Amino acid sequence: MNARAPIPANPAVLVFDSGLGGLTVLREISALRRDLKLIYAADDEVFPYGRLADDALIARVSSVMDELIARYKPALVVIACNTASTLTLPVLRAKHAIPFVGTVAAIQPACAQWKTERISVLATPGTVKREYTRALIEEFAGDCKVDLVGSEWLASLAEAYLRGGEATDEAIAKEIAPAFVKDGTRTDTVVLACTHYPLLLDRLKLLAPWPVEWLDPAPAIARRVASRLPVPGLPLMEPVRAHFTSGKAPGPELAKALKRFGIGAAARPHS
Ligand code: DGL
Repeated sequence: MNARAPIPANPAVLVFDSGLGGLTVLREISALRRDLKLIYAADDEVFPYGRLADDALIARVSSVMDELIARYKPALVVIACNTASTLTLPVLRAKHAIPFVGTVAAIQPACAQWKTERISVLATPGTVKREYTRALIEEFAGDCKVDLVGSEWLASLAEAYLRGGEATDEAIAKEIAPAFVKDGTRTDTVVLACTHYPLLLDRLKLLAPWPVEWLDPAPAIARRVASRLPVPGLPLMEPVRAHFTSGKAPGPELAKALKRFGIGAAARPHS
């Protein structure tokens, strides 16, 4: 590992996820800091990460990150993926001399809200089974009751929704139903512990069996990123660059959606 280089003005920041979920984090970072050269990288060749075994996930993220860092030379990397953050941050930090900002389930803020009695942490099967998530609950739940709920399909439904594919109300309602628990106390807050889920937020609100607070960690991640960088320089007018590991060009629906997140043209991955 080399010594850290000083961070330049208009630093490059790489925002990484298995797929499109990290766009919810990218949106908050670009709202907060107009001076960053943002690159959005999605490992769509291997999506979803939620079903990968621990060793496979660490090996994959580590090798993709080697390539991305060599190519884009970011001053900071955001792992905008809960599933990858639960396992890979120590490995990445040991290998690369740049700061990594990870994504943590917002259990602490959820349980610190005065009215919170019972929260559900909605996440991928990978995040749910990891020691990292259980340790967060141990440390921060306090008197708050926590239900840890794994969803097999919600990330894929969010992905389909953004790509103009099928994501029916029925399928979404089925995935979120286990996060609504009523036995003595009732779920009042749902922690969105997968960056894909806020892409569906409007529909989640409509399909919820009763109203709850939905906690999206993206604004807190953006604040953390800003705090790790020098004071903002002049705003940049360039579009966000995108990198898809599959090398597939986005279809017309996805291209439209990407534009809404400030992404112009997708870069060819292996040129
Ligand atoms: N967006 C990823 C997360 O925050 C998960 C999606 C996947 O399973 O790849 O956990």
